[in-house]
Amino acid sequence: MRKYKYFKELTSTNDYLKTNYRDLPNLSVVVAGHQTKGRGRLSREWLDDAGSILLSIFIKPKENIKINLIPLVASTVVHKFLKSYCINDNLKIKWPNDILLNGKKIAGILVESKYTNSFDYVVVGIGINVNTECFAGDLIPKATSLYLSTNDKYDLKKMYDELIKLFYEEYALFENDVFRFIEYNRKQSAMIGEEVFLDIDGKIREVEVIGISDGGELEVKYDGEVKSFSSGEVTLSKNYNKE
Ligand code: BTN
Repeated sequence: MRKYKYFKELTSTNDYLKTNYRDLPNLSVVVAGHQTKGRGRLSREWLDDAGSILLSIFIKPKENIKINLIPLVASTVVHKFLKSYCINDNLKIKWPNDILLNGKKIAGILVESKYTNSFDYVVVGIGINVNTECFAGDLIPKATSLYLSTNDKYDLKKMYDELIKLFYEEYALFENDVFRFIEYNRKQSAMIGEEVFLDIDGKIREVEVIGISDGGELEVKYDGEVKSFSSGEVTLSKNYNKE
């Protein structure tokens, strides 16, 4: 099993790998005890406390890899990993990259890449709320942790080992079979069959989510038409559902 680099504090584990990837082997992992500038998708902040999993993986993808599907691999891994800790709970994947536990966000994934003549890097960043006891202000109704759900505290070191092992196993499968990950995301989707609000070209539209395409895009129906959108093309509106 490969070791990971641990830092008590970093600005962001994704930023560390984006700066240092040239000196690191493929599939290097970096872990932080705390991030001072943790980032989420859409330039949002990602806050943590001493009870969070904060990790990033550097991937130097092989030529034939479908980069667009790497986020689906990451969400599969995090979903499977968390499922082993809360078997009886309602754990779902909210496209493109959030994991919801009983309707609240427990984990987020940030995938970033750089392309020059080929892909220089894909960095997969994973944040999971594990032992977090409380959240600040506006996060209270939206966020949860394993602790808040199960009332147990967890050994982060053991969890890092398990999560990294699972990521390596699943990524090795992905190099040969991408469809299992699309299928997994379809089965565990929090969105398929739901009416949601989507920001399409700056316009908020109510759409029906009908699926996830073979390219990992969200398939929606509105104005009588079916369209597919990548995560770069649309965003879920802030109150994406009516809850
Ligand atoms: C999101 O929910 O929008 C994605 C959150 C991703 C957070 C993780 S924590 C480890 C890695 N480093 C970062 O700065 N972000 C990711």
